[in-house]
Amino acid sequence: MRRSPSPYGDSIILKPDEFRQLRDLFVARTGLQFGAEQRFALERRLRERLMVLKLATFADYHQYLRFGSQASVEWDEAIDLLTTNETYFFREDRQLRAFQNEVLPLIEEQTRPRRRLAVWSAGCSTGEEVYTIAMLISQSNLFPRRGSPGDPPPWDVRIYGSDISRRCIAAARRGVYGESSFRSTSLDARRTFFHQRPDGFHVAEPIRQLCHFGQMNLLDEDRSRILGRADAIFCRNVLIYFDARARKTAIEVLYDRLNPGGVLLLGHSESLLNVSTAFELLHLKDDLVYRKPLSARGETQVPDDPT
Ligand SMILES: C[S@@+](CC[C@H](N)C(=O)[O-])C[C@H]1O[C@@H](n2cnc3c(N)ncnc32)[C@H](O)[C@@H]1O
Repeated sequence: MRRSPSPYGDSIILKPDEFRQLRDLFVARTGLQFGAEQRFALERRLRERLMVLKLATFADYHQYLRFGSQASVEWDEAIDLLTTNETYFFREDRQLRAFQNEVLPLIEEQTRPRRRLAVWSAGCSTGEEVYTIAMLISQSNLFPRRGSPGDPPPWDVRIYGSDISRRCIAAARRGVYGESSFRSTSLDARRTFFHQRPDGFHVAEPIRQLCHFGQMNLLDEDRSRILGRADAIFCRNVLIYFDARARKTAIEVLYDRLNPGGVLLLGHSESLLNVSTAFELLHLKDDLVYRKPLSARGETQVPDDPT
């Protein structure tokens, strides 16, 4: 591997064959797909890494990611530069209302015998989606306003957030947010669920306690099993960045991790069309979500998809 002779990083060009090599490496590992039109964006974003590592060419960087002694550390750096982490509290309000008013009562019914409910936000970025789900659940029947002595104990509710980006997961765990995270949050919700401090808005402790975070690649089928099964999975605005193969693998992972009767909520521009027929469609008043059939009890594998 050659070390860069020049301190001028902008002289390093991502050549078409190097672009293809890196693109193939990224899509195989992360699912993220980069079209030819993104070559210059990739060059711009990754150039600083070559300078830090003192590498002369993108071919060297490719080698470094594959065989370098610190490759796994470098992958974290590259992923932070290549992922789109845009998110905010109460994103896609209509879908969230459908979750609160229609999906939650349904899964509450299904999970009543065990009084335990798990929700997974896959690709949660900096955590706003996870805390939003916790806020919605905290206002539901699972958390009665005023308990009387004879009442059964509250439900065991866990909301898991995972993302491939280590930096995002660290921010999610911190739970402190600035203005841009609140572009669709009511004043009332802000007052109820946050404490304002000099460094930003801190998520209130009762909400934090419901939420757990971990770094995880959605395509890592073995690691996903550590999570256990969920009754609802949010995977919103993640699959749009994947190629077809990664989308299929991710959906298989999500299907496997759902309890029978559990619900999958995708982003509004995403669908399972041409990806999976294993789910059934659940038509809500104002939205459409996917459900793992109750008949999948005892099933160990995702049914074959004829498409
Ligand atoms: C645009 S954000 C969506 C955040 C949130 N779900 C929302 O809708 O507001 C997409 C997130 O997916 C994550 N991501 C991309 N590829 C991933 C993968 N293979 N495994 C897990 N997360 C991934 C990115 O790091 C990014 O934080």
